[in-house]
Amino acid sequence: MIKTRMKDHNCGELNLNNIGEEITLSGWVSTIRDLGGILFIELRDRSGFFQLVANPQINPDVHKIFEKVRSEYVITVKGKVTKRPEETYNEKYPTGQVEMYPESIEILSEAKTLPFVLDDENVSEDVRLKYRYLDIRRDSMKSKLVLRHNIVQAVRNYLNNLDFLEVETPILIKTTPEGARDYLVPSRVQEGKFYALPQSPQIFKQLLMVGGIERYYQIAKCFRDEDLRADRQPEFTQIDLEMSFVEQQDVIKVVEGLLVDAFKAAGVEIKPPFIQISWQEAMDRFGSDKPDTRFGLELFDIGDIILKSNFDIVKNTLLNGGIVRGIRIPGGAKFSRKDIDDITKLAVSFGAKALANIIYLEDGTAKSPVLKFVTDEQAKQIQTRAGAQAGDIIFFVADKPKLVYDIMGRLRLHFGKTLNLIDDSQHNLLWIVDFPMFEWSDEENRYMAMHHPFTSPCIDDLDKLESGDLGNVKSIAYDIVYNGTELGGGSVRIHSSEVQKAIFKALGLTEDEAKEKFGFMVNALQYGTPPHAGLAIGLDRLVALLARTDSIRDVIAFPKNSGAKDLMSDAPGEASLQQLRELHLKSTVQLHK
Ligand code: AMO
Ligand code: AMP
Repeated sequence: MIKTRMKDHNCGELNLNNIGEEITLSGWVSTIRDLGGILFIELRDRSGFFQLVANPQINPDVHKIFEKVRSEYVITVKGKVTKRPEETYNEKYPTGQVEMYPESIEILSEAKTLPFVLDDENVSEDVRLKYRYLDIRRDSMKSKLVLRHNIVQAVRNYLNNLDFLEVETPILIKTTPEGARDYLVPSRVQEGKFYALPQSPQIFKQLLMVGGIERYYQIAKCFRDEDLRADRQPEFTQIDLEMSFVEQQDVIKVVEGLLVDAFKAAGVEIKPPFIQISWQEAMDRFGSDKPDTRFGLELFDIGDIILKSNFDIVKNTLLNGGIVRGIRIPGGAKFSRKDIDDITKLAVSFGAKALANIIYLEDGTAKSPVLKFVTDEQAKQIQTRAGAQAGDIIFFVADKPKLVYDIMGRLRLHFGKTLNLIDDSQHNLLWIVDFPMFEWSDEENRYMAMHHPFTSPCIDDLDKLESGDLGNVKSIAYDIVYNGTELGGGSVRIHSSEVQKAIFKALGLTEDEAKEKFGFMVNALQYGTPPHAGLAIGLDRLVALLARTDSIRDVIAFPKNSGAKDLMSDAPGEASLQQLRELHLKSTVQLHK
C-alpha cells in the first residue's frame, strides 16, 4: 500500500500478526457505541473495519474527542495494535481479534446526518442515486466496483498477451449506425453542423484494420439514445475488439478465452467451446435469439397438421405467411380457469390476438374449443408433436413469424420463472450464428441491417443480394449469450467497397446518401483492406450478471435512471441563452419563457 503520514495501514488487513505495531489509520466512523462509559468506534476504510476503543481511565484526552465523534466523521488515529480479550473476539470480521486504544485522534472532517442508513438494504434507488457518493460507501456497491475492476484487468491482461493493441477512438464523430438514435453535439465553430457521439467504435476499429493495426481492443464508452431498461444505459461500456486475417471461428475462440479469464476474475469456472446454434434454430426452439437454455419447455411446430385440418382461422394465417408454435407445460392441466385466463391475457399483452390451449386430462381425454376443428387423428398428431402426457396443457399461437416467436419466447420465459424451472447455479454460454443479414421493419417500411451495415453477407448469398431476395440473405454474424442475456455481438466485416455499396443500396440509401454518410469508409476500403472481423461485449451486462444483480445501474459508479437523468447532478440541465447563441441554436423552451 501507499504509506502516508495520515495512513500507513489498511483497517481490514490487520490481524494478530500486527500486535504491538505502532500504526496510523484513517477512515470513516461506521458506528460509535458507549458501553458503560467506554467508547467503541468501528473504523471503516475501503479494505474493511477495525475496532478503536477509548477508556476515560486510560486516555481521557482521546476519550473526550471520541465523545465528539459522530457517524461518518472522517478521523485519523495513531496507536498500537493490541489483542482483544478472547471472549470479545468478533468472528464477523477478519480483524475481529485485534483492536487499538489510540494514543491520539484527530477529526479530519465532520459529517451531517446521512439521508439514509448505509447498511439498510431497502433504501429506494432514487435516494441511492441522488447520494451516489454515499451509496458507494456501502460494502455491496464497493464490492461490485472491485469486481468490475478485476474483470477489466483480467480482460486487458488476456488481450495484451495476445498482442492486441489498446487504441482510443474519438467521441466527437459523424455517426455509427448501430440502430439506436444518436446523441448530437452542436458545433460552435461550424455553424449548423453537429457531431454525433459514437454508438460504438465500429467504423474506427475497422479503419484501424485498414491502418494495419491487426489486433485492436478498447474499453470503450458508447452512447445510444434509446428507451432504457434494466440492462440498457444511455452511456455504457464495451469491451470492443477487432482482428485482421481471421474468420468467424478465430474470433469465437479468442472471445471464449477472454470470457474464461473474465469469469475466473469473478470466481466462476466455465469451459469452452460453447455450443453454437443457428439463429433459425434458436427462434424455432426458444422463440428468442438470446435463449435462456437453463431450462427446457422448447417450442414445437404444428403447422403441417393444422394445414390439413378445418381450423380455418389458423390455416388462413399459415397460408398468408404466418407460422404456428406451441409450448407444453407439464402438469399444466391443473391450471384453474383463472390461471388460463391470466396466461391468455399475458399473451395478449405480448401482442397475441388469441392463445389457444388444449388440456390433456388425467383420464386420457383432451379438452379444448379447438378440437372441434380437427379430426381425432389430427388431435393425436398434435399431442404426439407436443409430447403431451395426461396432466399436461399446451398453448399455441398463430401469426406473423416475428410476433409468434416473440410471444412464445416471452411465454416460455414466464413459465420458466413462475414454475421455478431456472437453475441459478448454471452458467450457460452459447453462440448464436448464421443471423439473417436483414430484418423487415414495418415502421420504416424497409429492410434494416440486423447487426449493422458493415457485416459481411454470406458469400453464397451474394446473388440473392443482387436479385433483391433480401429476406433470405444470411450474414456472418455471431452473438454470445449468457443465461438468456445477449452479452455481446460481432461479425466478419465487408472488406470490399463494391459489396459495401451493394449493402447500402439494399438498405435503401441512395448513392449520394451513402457517399455523404459513409463515403470515407467506402473510400478507405479501396486502399488495401485486410479481411477482418470482431466483436463487442457489453461490459456492464457482463459485470452485472457476474455480480448477480438485475440492473446494470448497480455496476456503474454514476449511472442514469430510467429517464436518462443523473439524479445526483441533475443532468441534463438547461443551457443559457448565451451558450445557445454561441452554438447557433434556438431552444423552443427558452423562446417560450
Ligand atoms: P452491439 O450493438 O450488439 O454491437 O453491442 C454490443 C453489446 O453492447 C451491449 N449494449 C449495451 N449495454 C448497455 N446499455 C446499452 N444501451 C447497450 N447497447 C448494447 C450489449 C451488446 O451485446 N459495433 C458492434 C460490435 C461489433 O460488431 O463488433 C456493436 O456495438 O451487451
Ligand atoms: P373462435 O373461432 O374465435 O372461437 O376461435 C377458435 C379458437 O381458435 C379459440 O380457441 C382461439 O383461441 C383460437 N385461435 C384463434 N386465432 C388464433 C391464433 N391466431 N393463434 C392461436 N389460436 C387462435
